Amino acid sequence: MPSVVVLGTQWGDEGKGKIVHLLGKQADYIVRYQGGPNAGHTVVFDGKKFVLHLIPAGILIPKKICVIANGVVVDPLSIHEEIKLLEQRDIKVKGRLFISELAHLIFPYHKILDAAKEDAGGKSTKIGTTRKGIGPTYADKVERVGIRLIDYLEPDTFSRLLEQNLSLKAHIIEKYSSIDKLRAEILEQAEYLRPFLQPFACDTSKLLNEALHKKKKVMFESAQGTLLDIDFGTYPYVTSSNPIAGSVGAGCGVGPSKIGSVLGIAKAYTTRVGEGPMPTELKDAVGEQLRATGQEFGATTGRPRRCGWFDAPVVRRSIMVNGIKDLVLTKIDVLANVDPIKICVAYKYKGKLLKDFPNSRAAIMECEPVYETVPGFGAISSELRNFKDLPSNAKKYVLRLEKILGLKFTLVSLGKSRDETISTSKKSIW
Ligand code: GDP
Ligand code: IMO
Ligand code: MG
Repeated sequence: MPSVVVLGTQWGDEGKGKIVHLLGKQADYIVRYQGGPNAGHTVVFDGKKFVLHLIPAGILIPKKICVIANGVVVDPLSIHEEIKLLEQRDIKVKGRLFISELAHLIFPYHKILDAAKEDAGGKSTKIGTTRKGIGPTYADKVERVGIRLIDYLEPDTFSRLLEQNLSLKAHIIEKYSSIDKLRAEILEQAEYLRPFLQPFACDTSKLLNEALHKKKKVMFESAQGTLLDIDFGTYPYVTSSNPIAGSVGAGCGVGPSKIGSVLGIAKAYTTRVGEGPMPTELKDAVGEQLRATGQEFGATTGRPRRCGWFDAPVVRRSIMVNGIKDLVLTKIDVLANVDPIKICVAYKYKGKLLKDFPNSRAAIMECEPVYETVPGFGAISSELRNFKDLPSNAKKYVLRLEKILGLKFTLVSLGKSRDETISTSKKSIW
């Protein structure tokens, strides 16, 4: 089957951008199926660094077609800025990027509502969102008052829907901004954003189904990690969409029979941004070492990422809910000189051993990780291209993770650029 889903298995920032930049070379189409400008995918090559928010990493591979599908929430201002930034750096976007007419749009009032909720009730209601308006936009979609790109492109429809939304939300918005000011700002922006976005808009479900019919290779790229999934993540400390592989269908208008394999990306340790439980979090010098060596600062918000040991129940849950067939291990180089290394293999809660990631809020918050301790290793040269040349304890670490997870890693990443990767399998991902 010529399609593959590439997704994060933890709380995000697993290195999706790098891996899509590497494996996307083999694809014809690279597609975002959920999330929005909350994502921050970093791609480093030829001494250049790009951080992509809405546009799939495939845009950095010449001639690839990129799609922002209907499951994504698009901020017209952010996409305009992202396209302009890419064009300024000589990346051709026009004719290569297609945005679903059915994608819901983020407006300034969504960002106001996002921030208002974050700041309303103190620590108890704070999710630590990116404040990009993601939650309120998905809420409008489900509430059936959302505004889609196709609506935005029709001025009369848009004005009517905008009025409906402003009046529905006035009681909250008016605490932070004037409705008249907001309306004027949105309408003024629409005057130049509408003609700008028009050439990118199309029926991306049709585009993708036709491509699949012609046996083109399609890669679906998740915006977030599985533990941020609205259903299977650490609810309520999650994002407002489904990064899991099953959401490709609804997020792209592509039937499940068209989805081929699923590739999961796992970082050699764990990170998380924002609030919420993280059983293996390290609030000590080792956590700081991982943050400093791994440069663990948010690609979208710049916030320091919380760092901790590899959490196997987290990744095992991801393997299960996504139907992952192949894994990629990233950032093994960051563990250099961390000695010993711990791997969380289960949790303990109220005297009981939990092998699976729990669903109870109390259990997730209060469970204690059960660790296996393994010896550390020294620096890993990013020049290495053969698994056998890795330091012996690094090899043992990888093999031990495979055993605990019950799946093999097809790639081991040891640096930011796509060349800095070891391929451990001849098996095709397609
Ligand atoms: P994404 O959101 O999953 O695409 O990940 P981010 O781009 O937010 O964060 C991953 C960070 O790690 C980026 O700065 C990457 O350049 C970097 N990175 C990716 N793979 C590796 C690796 O194997 N080793 C190191 N040292 N850095 C990596
Ligand atoms: P990438 O693409 C890490 C987190 C936020 C917050 C929660 C909800 O870089 O993997 P939201 O703004 O989505 O309503 O915030 O989700 N979050 C991410 N954390 N990486 C991301 O994307 C994230 N996108 C959202 O920090 O905890
Ligand atoms: Mg990121």
